[in-house]
Amino acid sequence: CGIVGYIGFRNATDVLIDGLRRLEYRGYDSAGVAVRTPAGLRVVKRSGKLAALESALKEEHLEGPLGIGHTRWATHGAPTDPNAHPHTTEDGRIAVIHNGIIENYLELKEALKARGHRFTSETDSEVLAHLIEEKYQGDLFQALKEALKEVRGAYAVVVAHEDHQEIVAARTVSPLVIGLGEGENFLASDVPALLPYTRRMVFLHDGDLARITREGVEVTDLQGNPLEREAVEIDWTLEAAEKGGFPHYMLKEIYEQPWVLENTLGGRLREEEGDVELGLGLDPMAIDRIHVIACGTAAYAGWYGKYLLEALARIPTEWDVASEYRYRDPVVDERTLAIAISQSGETIDTLEGLREAKRKGARTLGVINAKGSSITREVEDVLYIHAGPEIGVASTKAYMAMLAAMAMLAVHFGRRRGILSKEEAQRLLKEMRKLPRLVEEVLEKRPLIAHLAEKYHQAQDFLFLGRHVQAPTAYEGALKLKEISYIHAEAYPAGEMKHGPIALIDEHLPVVVLATKGPLYEKTLSNIQEVRARGGKVIAIATEGDMEIGKLAQDVFHVPEVHPLLAPMVSVVPLQLLAYEIAVLLGRDVDQPRNLAKSVTVE
Ligand code: G6P
Repeated sequence: CGIVGYIGFRNATDVLIDGLRRLEYRGYDSAGVAVRTPAGLRVVKRSGKLAALESALKEEHLEGPLGIGHTRWATHGAPTDPNAHPHTTEDGRIAVIHNGIIENYLELKEALKARGHRFTSETDSEVLAHLIEEKYQGDLFQALKEALKEVRGAYAVVVAHEDHQEIVAARTVSPLVIGLGEGENFLASDVPALLPYTRRMVFLHDGDLARITREGVEVTDLQGNPLEREAVEIDWTLEAAEKGGFPHYMLKEIYEQPWVLENTLGGRLREEEGDVELGLGLDPMAIDRIHVIACGTAAYAGWYGKYLLEALARIPTEWDVASEYRYRDPVVDERTLAIAISQSGETIDTLEGLREAKRKGARTLGVINAKGSSITREVEDVLYIHAGPEIGVASTKAYMAMLAAMAMLAVHFGRRRGILSKEEAQRLLKEMRKLPRLVEEVLEKRPLIAHLAEKYHQAQDFLFLGRHVQAPTAYEGALKLKEISYIHAEAYPAGEMKHGPIALIDEHLPVVVLATKGPLYEKTLSNIQEVRARGGKVIAIATEGDMEIGKLAQDVFHVPEVHPLLAPMVSVVPLQLLAYEIAVLLGRDVDQPRNLAKSVTVE
């Protein structure tokens, strides 16, 4: 979900709506604002997208120099008007916005009800408004502190009171950042919301409470001890966070991938020495095994990483989706390295998986995009992927950057552990250096993908197949299609298909096969034959110059030749474009697909 807060001299409503628009990608099934107007604290909230709130605000004009706003992604309670934030007390004097989950809310709610509080929503968040009201004795900051002592769970909470020229806030796992201005200050769950106003930002840490006035910011812990939180300068341009001429963020981000690869790899590759410079403190000799933890698209990047870490560095590597890892009681010791991969650095499953590994004594490394995010503050080392802000809910450029980062990491470990020869490393690095240009070449062939989309967009189901490093590519291709076109898509390791999914194959099923040149090329061809023999339609992603494959596949899309271990970087691009073109043809909301959120900060 997205939060924005403002205190200063402008009309808060304008700043809130503008900020919320930049955060809508975080969640968007309802939105609301509370503004301190001359007539008291006023709340307007609506289910649906931000536009619904905006039109409501045209009728009920709110004007005042202090306000808080929210876009919501439903967890507790359906996306209805009453369930939208902000939540208020019965007398309407206190307004509260909350991201995250309050685990003991039922208990608290019962107790509050017994003491006479009347609830108007089904959300766990409303409990906070009533709890703060009970604790309030003239000092809002103090009341928040007291209330939070009774709350168990994860939160970013923001509070306004009719009588106070201040916003008070607190966070545990859900992110909050304060933007510093002159005679005004801002608050948001994410940086892009504030970029038009300021670049000086203070990131709140786990357990921080903040009191924000026009003049300044005061941070304390739950006990009230003052804390020093340094302001940082954010170097993202607003342009970078906006669409840049493309019809959708997702397409813009797909097209940014050559540049992203430059950013991720540039300055780190040392072809001469056959090494990479990652600036990590970790001693690669001090680990015996690796556990990779991530969710969604990042998890597939992790799976790719496993193949490379094992192939190039011979380090036994396990790979799990974080929600499984956390609860499977993994075997960890102090020679285990836990690698958390995350675009946002805020995904709660990933964070908790990482904490589980840490508790068991693991060393930790984050492969992360968002600077200053929660995961970066909990790991010993961070390898930033430098993909820039990613707005499209379906991840594309961050995936590309994660693949590149994992490849560099594997080379780094392989070299330091004396497994990878200098010559082999040099060969790989040279190939990596070519990647931005090769991805550019693939993008130039977008019209061919548009043609394929035209041909296949009516299909009910898709199957994606690949082997070895191309297995994760197949899964990522299927995920992209599911996420934004809502077509059912399944992915399988190509060799495993005959053990089950082969039963699905008929003349209606398009089967996308990753069949680039590499040690398993012949095996993959056999799998294509298995599909063909049952009438399935094969769309092959093949290496440039491979003309043979045209005899077996209905359709072939050629990608430039590259080292087989790096083939996923060029092969995932046509799959991203295919999902995009199909979603557009089907009239889907590409940047904000239904039911998904960019960053999931609930378990
Ligand atoms: C959400 C998004 C996915 C994303 C996953 C992990 O579910 O919808 O697109 O891959 O979270 O996000 P992260 O920020 O940790 O990479």
